[in-house]
Parts: sequence; C-alpha cells; structure tokens
Amino acid sequence: MLLFLTIFLILCSTPPILGLNQEGLYLQSVKHSLDDPDSALSNWNDRDETPCSWSRITCDSSGSVYSVDLSNTNIAGAFPSLLCRLPNLTFISLYNNSINSTLPLDISFCQNLHHLDLSQNLLTGALPHTLADIPELRYVDLTGNNFSGDIPESFGRFQKLEVLALVSNLFDGTIPPFLGNVSTLKMLNLSYNPFSSGRIPPELGNLTSLEVLWLTDCNLAGEIPDSLGRLKSLKDLDLAINNLHGRIPTSLSELTSVVQIELYNNSLSGELPAGMSNLTALRLFDASMNQLSGTIPGELCTLQLESLNLYENRFEGSLPPSIANSLNLYELRLFGNRLTGELPKNLGKNSPLRWLDVSNNLFSGEIPATLCERGELEELLMIYNSFSGEIPASLGECNSLTRVRLGHNRLSGEVPAGIWGLPLVYLLELEENYFSGKIAKTIAGAGNLSLLIISKNNFTGAIPEEIGWVENLVELSGSNNRLSGALPESTVNLRQLDTLDLHNNELSGELPNGVESWKKLNELNLANNYISGKIPEGIGKLSVLNYLDLSGNRLSGKVPLGLQNLKLNLLNFSDNHLSGDLPPQFAKEMYRNSFLGNRGLCGSSEDLCDSRNEAKSQGYVWLLRCIFILAASVFTIGVVWFYLKYRNFKKAKRAIDKSKWTLMSFHKLGFSEYEILDCLDEDNVIGSGASGKVYKVVLTNGEAVAVKKLWGGIKTECESGDVEKGCVQDDGFEAEVETLGKIRHKNIVKLWCCCTTRDCKLLVYEYMPNGSLGNLLHSSKGGLLDWPTRYKIALDSAEGLSYLHHDCVPPIVHRDVKSSNILLDGDFGARVADFGVAKVVDASGKGPKSMSVIAGSCGYIAPEYAYTLRVNEKSDIYSFGVVILELVTGRLPIDPEFGEKDLVKWVCTTLDQKGVDHVIDSKLHSCYKEDICKVLNVALLCTSPLPINRPSMRRVVKLLQEVGTEIHPKIASKDGKLSPYYYDGASDLGSVA
Ligand SMILES: *[C@@H]1O[C@H](CO)[C@@H](O)[C@H](O)[C@H]1NC(C)=O
Ligand SMILES: *[C@@H]1O[C@H](CO)[C@@H](O)[C@H](O)[C@H]1NC(C)=O
Repeated sequence: MLLFLTIFLILCSTPPILGLNQEGLYLQSVKHSLDDPDSALSNWNDRDETPCSWSRITCDSSGSVYSVDLSNTNIAGAFPSLLCRLPNLTFISLYNNSINSTLPLDISFCQNLHHLDLSQNLLTGALPHTLADIPELRYVDLTGNNFSGDIPESFGRFQKLEVLALVSNLFDGTIPPFLGNVSTLKMLNLSYNPFSSGRIPPELGNLTSLEVLWLTDCNLAGEIPDSLGRLKSLKDLDLAINNLHGRIPTSLSELTSVVQIELYNNSLSGELPAGMSNLTALRLFDASMNQLSGTIPGELCTLQLESLNLYENRFEGSLPPSIANSLNLYELRLFGNRLTGELPKNLGKNSPLRWLDVSNNLFSGEIPATLCERGELEELLMIYNSFSGEIPASLGECNSLTRVRLGHNRLSGEVPAGIWGLPLVYLLELEENYFSGKIAKTIAGAGNLSLLIISKNNFTGAIPEEIGWVENLVELSGSNNRLSGALPESTVNLRQLDTLDLHNNELSGELPNGVESWKKLNELNLANNYISGKIPEGIGKLSVLNYLDLSGNRLSGKVPLGLQNLKLNLLNFSDNHLSGDLPPQFAKEMYRNSFLGNRGLCGSSEDLCDSRNEAKSQGYVWLLRCIFILAASVFTIGVVWFYLKYRNFKKAKRAIDKSKWTLMSFHKLGFSEYEILDCLDEDNVIGSGASGKVYKVVLTNGEAVAVKKLWGGIKTECESGDVEKGCVQDDGFEAEVETLGKIRHKNIVKLWCCCTTRDCKLLVYEYMPNGSLGNLLHSSKGGLLDWPTRYKIALDSAEGLSYLHHDCVPPIVHRDVKSSNILLDGDFGARVADFGVAKVVDASGKGPKSMSVIAGSCGYIAPEYAYTLRVNEKSDIYSFGVVILELVTGRLPIDPEFGEKDLVKWVCTTLDQKGVDHVIDSKLHSCYKEDICKVLNVALLCTSPLPINRPSMRRVVKLLQEVGTEIHPKIASKDGKLSPYYYDGASDLGSVA
C-alpha cells in the first residue's frame, strides 16, 4: 500500500507545475506572519512541492509535517496559530525568540501536539485554558515569558502531561492544589514567579510519578507538608528562597530516590529530621540560611554525600568525625554557625575535597594536614575562628588552591614557603594572626595572586624584590607588622596595584623611582615607618589616587607641586621633615592637618605651625591664654544659645496654642511632636523639593529625624478650625498618608508620623546620614562610590520600588523616582524616599495645576507622559532606568554638555558612535566593566521608549540580581571602610543560588 502510494506520489510529482501542497502553503503563511531578521526561513520557498526539505521542518513517513523547530532563530511576532492546521504536527519549539502578544485560545486546534516549547520569548497575558484540551500533550515549557494571572483551573485536567515548566513568568495567584490531579507529571517547575503568599498544596503529594519538583522563589509560606514524603520517585526537590517555616518534616526521609534537596534561604527551624540515613541516593543537601539548630547528625556521614551546605544556621557542637569518611564529599560549607571543637583529623583524606568553608564559627585546634591529600582543594576558607598552630606544610604543595582565607584566627609560626608561591591563588589572606618570619622569595611564583592581605601579624624582614614579579597584584595590605628595609624598586612593576597599605611597619630607605607606573593606585598608606628621602614627583601623576598617607616618616624636601592635580579624599604628610613652600592649593586652613609637624613648612602657611612651635617657645602662658579664650567663648555661646532657645520655645508655644495639631503615628515614637516643632528653623533645612522643605531635627534622645514640611499650598478649603477633622478627611490626605505609613520594607524610608494642622502638614521620616544618592554621586565625593557600592544601591532601590509596585495593595506608584529621592544610610544601603507624596499633594484637590508636581523631575520623565499625561508603574521604571544610568555614567540626567539631549539619548548615541568605554564613569575601576555593562543593559531596557518593552520592577530586581551572581559584593567592615573580604559567606552566595 505504502509502496503504491509512494509510486503514485513520484508519478504525480514529475510535472513541476503541480506547486506547493496545502501544508507547505500554511507554512508559507506562517513565514509571512513572522518577522525574520536573520532570514532563517529563507529556504521555505514555493518551488518545492512539500515542505519536507525545508530547514527546521521534519515530516513523517506519510510526508506530513511532524515537527517544526524554530528555536534560536531570532524570529519575532505573534504565535503563528496557523501551525495548528498541520494535522500531524506533534512538536513545536519556538525556544528563545521574540514571540510576543498573547498565546491564542485556538492553540487547542493543535490536536496532535505532544511537545510545546515556547520558553524564552515575550509572551504576555493569561495562559490559554484550552491548552489542557490537547489530549496528547506531554511537554509544556513556557519558561522565561511574561505570562501573568493565575494558572487556569483546566490545568488540573491534563491527560498525559509529563513536564510543566512555567519558570520566571509573572504569575501572581497562588500555586493551585488541582495540579495534584495531573498524576502523569514527572517534572513540575514553577520557580521564580511573583506568586502571592501561599502554602505548598499538600495535594502535590499525590504526584507519585514526580521526579523533579522545583518551587524556588515562589513566595511560599507555612510549613512543608508531610505529604511530600509520598513522592517516591522524586529525585530533585528545590524549595529554596521562600518563607517556609517550622521543621523539616520527618517524612522527607522517606524520599528514597532523592538525589538533591535544596531548602536554602527559608525560615526553617528545629533539627534536621531523623532518619536521614534512609536517603541513600542523596548526593547534595543544602539547607543553608535557615534557623536550623542542634548538632550536625552523624547519620549524614553514612550517606554518599557530595555536597553539604548548612551555612548560616544555628548549629552547635562539633562536626561528626565520621564526616571524614564520606567518600564523595567535594563541597562542605558550614560557615556562620556556632560549631565548636576541632575539624576531623583526616578530613580530605578519603574524599576529593574541593571547597571547604567553615568561616565564622568557634572551631579551634589545628588545620588538618590532609585537606588537600587528593590534590583538588580550591577554596580554603576559615576566617573568624580560633584555629591555632602552624599552617601544615602539605598545604604549601596544594597547587589547586585558588582562594585561601585564614584571617582572624590564632595561627602562628612561619608560613610555609610554598604557600607564598601557589600558582593559582588569587586571594591569600592571613590577617590578624600571630604569624612570624619573612615573606618568602617563592612569592615570585604566585602568578595569579591579586590580593595579598597579611596585616596584623608579626612578619619581619624585608619585602623581597620578587614581589615585583606578581604582576596581577591589586592589593598589598601588610600594615601592623614589623617589615623592614626599603620598599623594593621592583614594586613599580605592579601596574595593577590599587591598594598599597604598609602602615605601622619598620620600613626605611627611600620610595622607589618610577611610582608613576602605578596607574591604578587608589590608596597609598605608608604611614608610621622610617621612610626617608623626597616625595617622588611622579606621585602627582597617579590620577586615580584617592587616599594618600605618608605621615610619621622621615620624608624631606618639598611637597611636589603636581600633587595639586589629584583629587584626594585624604592627604596626610604630617610629622615628616618636609620643607619649602606649600603648593598654593594646600596653603589653606582646610589642609592644615595634612602638613602639621613639619618644621620646615612653617613659613608657607600662616597658621600651620604656630600652634605647635609657639607653644614650645612660650610654654604654658600660651596654653593658659588659650584655655581662657576657649572658656570665655563657650560661655558667650551658651548664653546666646540659651536666649535663642528660649525665644524659639516661646514662639513655638505660641504657635501651638494657636492651632491644634493632630498626630498620626505609624511606629512607636520616642519623641513628641512639640519637640519637632521647636526645631523647625531655617538653620536646620537640609533640602527643599517640589513638595516642601526638609529639616533635620536632632531629638533630645540623640536620634535624628528628617521632617518634611509640605508647602502651604495644600491646605484645605476649610476656614474655621472646628470642622477641621471632616475637612481633612475630604481631601484624602490622611488616607494616603496612612497607606504610606503602613509600609515596612528595608529599602523604603520609614515614615514615623505625620502632624497636621489647619495650615501646615509635617511628615516625619527616619533620618539618613549619608544623604541622597544624587547629592553624593554628583558632588566631588562621587569617587567614594565604587562599583560594588553603586551596584548595591541600584539593587536596593530596585527592591524598594518593586515592593511599592508589586507588594502593596493597591500598588503604589512613586511618581518621582530620581537620584535625590534615593537616600543612603550609614552603610550606603539605599532606601526609596518621598514616594506617593506627590500624589498626596495632588489628592488635596489642587487639580490640573499640580500636574507639574506629579509628573516627576526633568530628565526623568518618561516620553509617553507627553501624550498620555498619566503616570503609572511604567513611568517609574523609566525614571529608575535614568537613575541606573546616573550610577553607570556618573553624569546628571540633564547636562548642558548633552545639548538638546537628555542622559538617555546621550547614552544611546554615545554607545552607537563611540562605544561603551565612553559611557562608563571613568572613576569606576575597569575590573568591573563586565558587570557594569550588564547593569547598563538593564538601564537601557528600563528606559525603552515604549512602556510595554520595559521590564516590570520585579524583573528588574531579578536582572540586577543575576549580575550580582558574579560580583563579589563589598560589605562594610567594622571600621566603616568598604572591604570585599570581610564576610566570605556573602560573596559565595552567588554560586549557591
Ligand atoms: C510583536 O513583534 C512584531 C515584530 O517584531 C512587532 O511588529 C509588533 O509590534 C510586536 N507587538 C507587540 C505587541 O509588541
Ligand atoms: C497524518 O494525517 C492524516 C490526515 O489527518 C492521516 O490520515 C494520517 O494517518 C496521518 N499520518 C500519521 C502518520 O499519523
């Protein structure tokens, strides 16, 4: 029969005039309905009779189209429903294209479809409920689109579905219990959706064929249901990044097939479940970042574990010694617990240990000599423990090591020579121990070494000349040792050097020649040594130098004139033997402290030396005179101050008497409204904006608050005080303010309270010591913000905005996102401020005139505002994009230098014409370029001219977080300086997530 048919077909096909068959015609229409910029479908032509020879088309034996695979072809346009006219089509993949608009209901006409892959496209809207009507459907992957709404109820009725993947969309309902009816499911992956808070439906325990269950970052709350223990086929369980509470149910120890369990980043508590020894297939277990307690059970060691991550919990006691018998263990991360005792003596002897992180615990005893016995150890992280003894010599031969952090322990003795020269190590940190001996010459072999941190030890001897061979060295921090001799000449070969900090040592000799080759040097601190000779002229050529401290040495000669070219945050040459004239720029009062204690400089600046030298000559007489003057002035100031205070107090009293104040407070207050009123005078103004003036008020309890006094224009129409209440409610002000006051989020400035009276309204906010991002970034202090800080500011504020847009009911549109509305706390954590205030002002019924108030600020206004005159979330996202551009470029949103253009246009044209290097702020370190470019791309998405193309705030957060998986975030250390190495755990999160 088939043979006959084939012959027939061949016969019929001889005359070429027959033309394309029906299926081919359908596919041609599909082709025409799509945008095909790369001509991927160019051989879909009408000279053939069947489409079977076309690229990306497969036919079955009857010559009918069976599969259409257009993955990765860059095609764009709506989903081509015409495909469903192909009767035998079983396979569609449009993976990774730009398929947009919604998925049509008539997709159910694809009655023979088995496999539907539309992942990584731009589909929006609701899922078509008709999908479940396709009887043969086995595989549905819609990952990475913008589908929203609920998962349709019909999805509980799939007949044969085995794979359902809806990862990274915008579904915002809850995870529906009816999915538990799809008993054929083998893989269910709903991760990374902004679901509203809900529980894991216990019904999912009915999916007994399930092998993969991924519910990462799905806003899950409540406990893990016992029923999950019934998933006997489950191999991979991932419930990470949710708000799950309670204990890990014992039933999970019945998952006898499970290979991988991920529970990190929840609020799970209690002990690890008993019976874990039943999980004989388990290879990877990660329950980090919870509140688990108790001990780490020895049972775990009977398993074939390869990776065990339990960091940032509350585990106590010592590590079961049998962990050293785990034959496959290559990753062990236990940092941030309260573990005590010693590490097992033969850890690493039996297993190919690669990553060991036990930092921030209470471990003691010696470092096991066997850690690198298999020659695979890459990361050895043990900071902040009480390890003692010497570094085992065996580690000096561990050539696989890349990261060694032993800081903040009680280690002693000489560092094995091999350690200094390990070929792949890029971070060697030995800070704050009792190490002694010299830096060995073997350091010449450390070809990859980038960060060498050995401060606060007892190292002695000269720094070897060989240090100059370590070409990749970015930081050399060796302060507070007893290093001696001269700084080797070879150090000028260290062209990558960013930080050279050797203060508090015994260095002598002169500074090397040719320091101008330190093109990237940002910090030079050689204070408190015995360095002599002149300050090299070349120092004035270090254009990115920011911190220069050579105080407490024996430097002589003149202060180089070139120093005036530098933009320094700190300059300290005090206590040296410098002489001659100061460069004019420095001959000022504000630089006085930078040059104190240099006898030879006295002539050059009036008040530079009189304090010290005259004091010597005139002795106590002078001192007494000083004290007297001081006392007199304190007294006078006191009297004046008291008088002013008293007057203000009376004034305020009067004001208060005149009009009654209503106070709405949203937090427990430690102050009264009168205290605030007392301080609202012009001296305390710290800012002024479209909606009002801002005052800083220091309360009697020492705390500071920021008070925003809304312009008088918003007062109510009421005339007499007695109907005040009703009137205020009319204007909607209080209702609005109450919504704002209820918001609690780490990246949103807290509104403490609101005081209103007939003609004045005050909003009292928490005070942010580092002021606004706009002020800092665009001032001379912009250089203080390095890339990791800027990145964190972007992410923080994105999270704040995302909270306003997605987690508040009703959603709150900020309406005035700009860098001066992003405030920075003491650690440069960013918080969004002033949200919704514009609306409050508007709600007071000023009508269209106040439109200028709500439209936002110049340079931040989304283009569509020009014709819609409406602001919505999308306009916030545009403005936020501008803020990121400011962070990346360091430029103002509008600048005369741009001519007609604003920042957005300037960036676009400069990118096109000159390339990315001309866009990125030159103050940023080039080592971050890759990350900066990624963030720049996010900004460009946000500032896309069409609102629809802008990602949601939630997605912006995701996109920014993805950049962060590679970055090592800098975390402020105790002394307030930003240091990338303070806490290892944080920098390692990326690899876990
Ligand atoms: C979908 O993509 C096509 C082709 O690029 C484009 O012309 C159309 O405007 C897009 N539609 C939407 C709603 O974005
Ligand atoms: C293809 O579809 C045609 C028409 O529906 C049907 O007759 C034929 O049996 C199908 N072929 C296969 C292999 O399913």
